[in-house]
Amino acid sequence: MALARAARIILVGAPGVGKGTQTERLMKRFPELSSISSGDLLRKNVRQRTPLGIQAEAKMKMGELVPDTMILRLIVNELTTRGWIQDNTLRPYSVYSSATDMDEADGTVDSVLIPSQFRAAKYQYTEHPSASFILDGFPRTASQAVQLDAIVPINLVVNIQTPPEVIIERICNRWVHEPSGRVYNTTFNPPKVEGKDDETGEALTRRADDDPEVWKARLKRFRETNENLLEHYGKHGVLWTVNGNSSDEISPQLFKEFGKRFGAGAD
Ligand SMILES: *[C@@H]1O[C@H](CO)[C@@H](O)[C@H](O)[C@H]1NC(C)=O
Ligand SMILES: *[C@@H]1O[C@H](CO)[C@@H](O)[C@H](O)[C@H]1NC(C)=O
Repeated sequence: MALARAARIILVGAPGVGKGTQTERLMKRFPELSSISSGDLLRKNVRQRTPLGIQAEAKMKMGELVPDTMILRLIVNELTTRGWIQDNTLRPYSVYSSATDMDEADGTVDSVLIPSQFRAAKYQYTEHPSASFILDGFPRTASQAVQLDAIVPINLVVNIQTPPEVIIERICNRWVHEPSGRVYNTTFNPPKVEGKDDETGEALTRRADDDPEVWKARLKRFRETNENLLEHYGKHGVLWTVNGNSSDEISPQLFKEFGKRFGAGAD
C-alpha cells in the first residue's frame, strides 16, 4: 500500500513482544518504509572506520556505553545522507552539493553538523512519503526522545502490549538445535523426543535471550525508562497502543491504524 505522507515511527514494547516481527511485516506491507537501526549504524561506522565509529569503538572497548550524542549523530548523518533532513545553517555556504559528496565527506559532516546544543528548527525535514522510516534502538528514554524531536519529530509511537505472563510462556516454550538453527515449540511443535533434535538426536538448548531470568532483568530495565518515554510521546499526541497475545493478533490492528494515518486515501 502506498503512503500519502512521511511516516516516522518507533515501536515500543517489552523484550520479546515481537517488535522485529512487526517491523518486517510493516515494511512488506508498506514498501516505502525503511528500517533505520541505531545498532546497525553503529556497527557500520565501526567497520568503515569513520571518525564517529572510531570514537564509539573506543568507548565500547573501555566498557562504556556509547553516549546519546554519538548515537544521535549517527542518525543525523544517515538521514542527511538519504536527503531526508537538511541542516539549515549549512545552506548558504554549503560545500556539499550532492549526495555523493556527502558520502565521501562523512567524517567532516559529523563535526560540522552537530553543535554542542541542538537548536529548534536547525534541521528541515521532508514530508515526502519516501522519507518514511521505523527507527529501531533509539530513543529509549524521554531525554533521548526530546533530543530527537528537535531534529526530526516522530509522528507515530506504537506501544505494543502483551501480558508478561504470555511472553514468558512463549520464551519458556522455545528450544533450539543450535548447529542447525531448528526451533521447537513445546506446545505447538514439540520434538519427537523431549530435549532432543528430531534429525540428529542432539541436545536442544535455550537461547541466551530466552533464559527467563535474563528476560526478567531486561524487562525490569525496560520498565525503568519506558514510562517516561511513553509519557513524552503521549503529551505530543503521537502515542497509539495496541494489545494482543501474539504477533498475528497485533499485525492486522497495526496495519489498519497505520493505513488510516499514513495511507494514500487517508486524510
Ligand atoms: C509456538 O507456536 C504457536 C503457534 O504457532 C505460537 O503462537 C507461539 O508463539 C510459538 N511459541 C514460540 C516460543 O515460538
Ligand atoms: C491473552 O492472554 C491472557 C493471559 O493469559 C488472557 O487472559 C486473555 O484472555 C488472552 N487474550 C486473548 C485475546 O486471547
